[in-house]
Amino acid sequence: MTTTDGAPVHVTYAWRGTFTDDEVNALHAEAFGHAPADDDWTDQVARLSLGWVTARDDRGLVGFVNVPWDGRTHAFVVDTSVARRARRQGVGRRLLDVVREHAAAAGCEWLHVDFEDGLDTFYVDACGFTPTRAGLVRLR
Ligand SMILES: CC(C)(COP(=O)(O)OP(=O)(O)OC[C@H]1O[C@@H](n2cnc3c(N)ncnc32)[C@H](O)[C@@H]1OP(=O)(O)O)[C@@H](O)C(=O)NCCC(=O)NCCS
Repeated sequence: MTTTDGAPVHVTYAWRGTFTDDEVNALHAEAFGHAPADDDWTDQVARLSLGWVTARDDRGLVGFVNVPWDGRTHAFVVDTSVARRARRQGVGRRLLDVVREHAAAAGCEWLHVDFEDGLDTFYVDACGFTPTRAGLVRLR
């Protein structure tokens, strides 16, 4: 990763890394194009997730992915977010590498993700997911 003047920027990745709810709310809003929410990510991931991954540079949180699971064999990739200023520099791919490593180490057999058309270049080609058929129902 480089700054606008070409100098390298160091990004550090952490499984179950520390974050504040404000940081994740801001990153999620930027990534998914909605107004910043007031969600309690700390409580949510502590109760429901196998883990999560943070990516930080010298200015703060540039990447986050949440990994809820069934407590046994299935883990799910949700909320993959990379800050605009850090995109297309391998941060997303590295976030998913860390997820894969830790989900496997926890004994999971399957890592799931679903995504919109257009993101197969990222999830399938860059991150190694196999395309599958899946189903979805909007509940509200
Ligand atoms: C999708 C996202 C996480 C990718 O993060 P990133 O750090 O930019 O991705 P990487 O740099 O690791 O990309 C690796 C490769 O994946 C592909 N890729 C990356 N972003 C892509 C995108 N938006 N669309 C299609 N392919 C993409 C490219 O082939 C890229 O390699 P290249 O830069 O050499 O061409 C990021 O763009 C993001 O946060 N988007 C908004 C939120 C979102 O849609 N999240 C996914 C929800 S399912």
